[in-house]
Amino acid sequence: MGKENKTIGLLYNGGRVDLDLKEPSVGPDVVDLKNFSAQTGLYTFDPSYSSTASCESYITYVDGTAGVLSYRGYPIEQLAQESTYLEVSYLLYHGELPTRDQLDVFRLKVKQNMLLEESVIKLFDTFPENAHPMSMLITSVASLSSIYHHDINVREPEDREAFFFQVLGKVPILAATILNHINKKTVGSYDEKLNYSANILNLFFGGIPNFEVNPVFSKALDVLLILHADHEQNCSTSSVRLAGSSGTNPYAAMAAGIAALWGPLHGGANEAVVRMFNEIKSKDRISHFIEKAKDKNDPFRLMGFGHRVYKNYDPRAAFIRATCHEVLDELGQDNNPMLELALALEEIALHDQYFIDRNLYPNVDFYSGIIYQALGLPKEMFTVMFALARVVGWATHWCEMMANPGLRIGRPRQLYLGPKKRNYIPLDQR
Ligand code: CMC
Repeated sequence: MGKENKTIGLLYNGGRVDLDLKEPSVGPDVVDLKNFSAQTGLYTFDPSYSSTASCESYITYVDGTAGVLSYRGYPIEQLAQESTYLEVSYLLYHGELPTRDQLDVFRLKVKQNMLLEESVIKLFDTFPENAHPMSMLITSVASLSSIYHHDINVREPEDREAFFFQVLGKVPILAATILNHINKKTVGSYDEKLNYSANILNLFFGGIPNFEVNPVFSKALDVLLILHADHEQNCSTSSVRLAGSSGTNPYAAMAAGIAALWGPLHGGANEAVVRMFNEIKSKDRISHFIEKAKDKNDPFRLMGFGHRVYKNYDPRAAFIRATCHEVLDELGQDNNPMLELALALEEIALHDQYFIDRNLYPNVDFYSGIIYQALGLPKEMFTVMFALARVVGWATHWCEMMANPGLRIGRPRQLYLGPKKRNYIPLDQR
């Protein structure tokens, strides 16, 4: 006996339409509205996509009610504790954990792409000294489409794979170049003896005399990269998919994702959180800012709090808070004033009825900036660090989408509220 198709009936205008229900591998059923307009002549209205699944995907699962996140079925806690960012990147892209040999080949392919073309390096001479790192990242990633365009056929699996490794290799070098543009220091070099995250720190700070990578810091960075590597159809990933669905150059699609990430409601929140801590300054001023966050006439929001999907503690935030303690202990800063302020703010918010009623908890961005700051990064670089980690998610989603033979261009409709038809009146008659 075959599996019975599940449907949901919708009554309208005295008629009835049966809509198929799709069954995910985990989670609630999904109403299939693919043919809804053709069947009924109606459209659905879901302006910020609160109720809409925009695609099928095999990569990442989030259960926001339970506070669960997994990559390819593996719980984020296990990956953050036991894995490495490169291994997780392999897992996201290939769908399975690698053997040691497979991981070595993967690492080599990423390493081989850790270089920048002359024209991209020269681009940095044109940026103002105070250019925001995210604007430099968007521009420099987009500029790679000027080099990698004519030879890329987005329908060819080999070309897509070549792009995947290029972008994974180049973004850390771009991040180091951006940091050195604002720090006025020279970029360090790749060191064979170091792992991926230690190499990133070496690229960032290796130009400083006598710099040596602290293993506690490189481990903390690796954990941050793992936790940020993917998060299903968030704003930036959806931007990559929407732009990419037109068949555009993948670097251009990637730049669209980075642009979306920059906003303070998304990845830009990590910079905004530290700005907020600096503004709050001391524990005795917390209640004033909590009241501001609750005041509907005040645009202030508690940055690093709340999430569209998580209505429970963001599992990434819990991990990052613990990592924060480890890094600050290593620096001998167990009484770090910013961490103390953050912990006090979290404690007060979690016991406030406004935050309880709306299920508002710390998200991935609440504690990460404190770690980045401890590692020596200026706050304007924090969202670049998010992008550096998320690039594997974006590239994997782009590859998954482009490999789908049924791919159609993304094209939402609208609820039109403008004027009805009216006739043009010549200029001298108005
Ligand atoms: N401070 C105060 N009130 C909040 C906050 C907050 N941070 N977040 C949500 N609310 C309130 C909101 O005003 C609304 O209240 P009411 O029901 O009375 O109108 C209720 O909670 C539901 O919020 P929402 O606006 O419907 O939530 P959303 O799903 O549209 O927005 C969010 C999600 C993350 C944009 C929002 O929570 C927010 O602005 N948070 C601060 C920015 C932030 O930390 N962003 C990082 C998100 S996680 C990482 C990432 O995506 O990159």
